[in-house]
Amino acid sequence: NAQLAEVMDTSDDWIRSRTGVERRRYAEPGVGSVELGARAVRAALADADVDPEEVDLLVSATMTPDVFAPANAPLIQHAAGLGPIAAYELRQQCAGFLYGLEMANSLLETGRASVAVVVGAEVHAGYLPFGPTAWGRLRGTHAGPVDPDEYAKATEGRAWAVLFGDGAGAAVLRRGGADEGFLAGRLFSDGAHHELIHVPGIGFRHQPYIDAAQLEAGMCEPHMNGMELFRQAVRAMPEALVAATGAVGLTPDDLDVVVAHQANARIVAAVANQLGVSDDVVPGNIAAHGNTTAATLPILYHELREAGRTASGSLVGFTAFGAGAHWGASVYRTP
Ligand code: UT7
Repeated sequence: NAQLAEVMDTSDDWIRSRTGVERRRYAEPGVGSVELGARAVRAALADADVDPEEVDLLVSATMTPDVFAPANAPLIQHAAGLGPIAAYELRQQCAGFLYGLEMANSLLETGRASVAVVVGAEVHAGYLPFGPTAWGRLRGTHAGPVDPDEYAKATEGRAWAVLFGDGAGAAVLRRGGADEGFLAGRLFSDGAHHELIHVPGIGFRHQPYIDAAQLEAGMCEPHMNGMELFRQAVRAMPEALVAATGAVGLTPDDLDVVVAHQANARIVAAVANQLGVSDDVVPGNIAAHGNTTAATLPILYHELREAGRTASGSLVGFTAFGAGAHWGASVYRTP
């Protein structure tokens, strides 16, 4: 946060108190979400003691792919040393990993897949509103002042730019018993809310699909209505958790832990409040990572698992709300 305060008009205190973020990481130039995603896949396979050749499905979620086409999915499949398996991409932004879990689980349940990997990977650094001197300050390669135009541009984007961090996470899933794994899930989308947060440039309604004028107008950066997004997220995630737990005769009270998307620590606290559970049931890690979009749920789940919060038999709720709008919840019994 202190470094960001050198390149835009913000402060550690504002970022900490309004968002909960204390630090976040940015990938080096040339490191994309394929590389981070492939590293996460390899680590998850090693952790699960599963050989890459056993995997027959890869579901990738990202809003920051390495290239416009093809998707990250085949690139991660290849980079992670998986065979020529079914590999596809989801574009549900912050809800991408949640959708990925539900899609993978459905294919496992129908027997179409036997070992699935779901990966969420993001490198947001490419669209952050920083110029060369600002990046130089952040990366420790420029000791002089930040160019005033760059400072002004970064300040214009400060409400969203301070939120994001880069990262990746992956999970290995295989078929289990009837009373374990994913017990229920509810997914929702409503394009009526697509302008809450969107990147309006780069797309084939415009000819050519990207041009200098679009870049100049900031059309390739996120445009965000922060307050309305906040309001919708606080309403939608608890409702989805109530619906998903209700589908199997449970209530949010039954959940041992909720793995919730991390867009703002105040949203996470409000979700706990709406659910009527203690803050400890809906833990956060946004302080350390910022919002890593599709990577948030697997990174948080990994940290909770390491901390012993997802012991065998635990009832875990997953929930997310993201651009689209897409949202939902899953209920998972740890095998
Ligand atoms: O991560 C992707 C998905 N995004 C979300 O889910 C975002 C959800 N929304 C939020 O987290 C919050 O709405 C924000 C953190 C984005 C903004 O917090 P807020 O409490 O809603 O602030 P605000 O937008 O009402 O702005 C309050 C003031 C404004 O100044 P004025 O007009 O009162 O003078 C902003 O210009 O805070 C100013 N501000 C900042 N000041 C310092 C906005 N961003 C910053 C900043 N540093 N980074």
